[in-house]
Amino acid sequence: VSKPALKFDPESVRDAWDRAATAYWLHQATGRDYYRYEFFGPAQLLLCGEVQGQRILDVGCGTGYFSRELARRGASVTGIDISPGMIAYAKREEAVEPLGVRYEVLDAGDLPAPGLGVFDMAASCVALQDMPAVPAVFRGVRSTLRPGARFVISITHPCTDTPYRAWDRDEGGTKRALCINRYFARETIAYTWRDTEDDVVTPALHATLEDWFGWILSAGFQVLALREPCPTAEAIAHRPQLRDAAMVPYILMLDLAVSP
Ligand SMILES: C[S@@+](CC[C@H](N)C(=O)[O-])C[C@H]1O[C@@H](n2cnc3c(N)ncnc32)[C@H](O)[C@@H]1O
Repeated sequence: VSKPALKFDPESVRDAWDRAATAYWLHQATGRDYYRYEFFGPAQLLLCGEVQGQRILDVGCGTGYFSRELARRGASVTGIDISPGMIAYAKREEAVEPLGVRYEVLDAGDLPAPGLGVFDMAASCVALQDMPAVPAVFRGVRSTLRPGARFVISITHPCTDTPYRAWDRDEGGTKRALCINRYFARETIAYTWRDTEDDVVTPALHATLEDWFGWILSAGFQVLALREPCPTAEAIAHRPQLRDAAMVPYILMLDLAVSP
């Protein structure tokens, strides 16, 4: 029996994230997303550097994790997301802890959007690989940025988040090596969120590293830095579950600047 193809157009993506919103929010609100809190979140904030007083656009802000972190550091943040369900949770967080973040439901593929403004910086935290029109998103983000501004992004690592991906484990179940294949297949892959009674699936794009660099450069960005965050020995001692993130790179981070 062949599986139905996973749809990856803006409407399907919006509906999928609306369905996943509660599970996704719970994953963070309960602290279970420790990879984010103890590993790649701090790494991306470090890459952003000083943000005090900067006008920042958070692209694919979801329930607002990265927007809030930037706002706590003194930035004036606008978060956009295609999913009204995700934005509703972000606004709920803003009501509980007001940080002055402005949230808008918007397909990043439709940037630039009237009335959104011009930004000193843009950021995107593990969201671009979930967007159907990535080249248009890069071009659109660039057009909302002032000259010389940066776009600091994280994506699931294209070299390890491949359509075929399985851990080889020892007799005790301990992860030994990650087996990957189909790296060159530009396929839609499914993420399952298991925090609710029903599993919820969201689609994402697998593209190669070469694809990503092509999209970035042709949109008019230059690459200032590339990071592959790895948890420290202390972080693993505190949270042994992070050990697998020190075996292979899970997240790719890029510091981009609008080309002169
Ligand atoms: C994995 S979540 C990341 C959310 C948030 N940045 C975080 O760190 O928790 C991916 C997000 O991308 C959003 N998204 C997908 N396609 C989009 C698009 N075309 N425009 C804006 N947001 C989009 C989804 O709705 C979802 O909230």
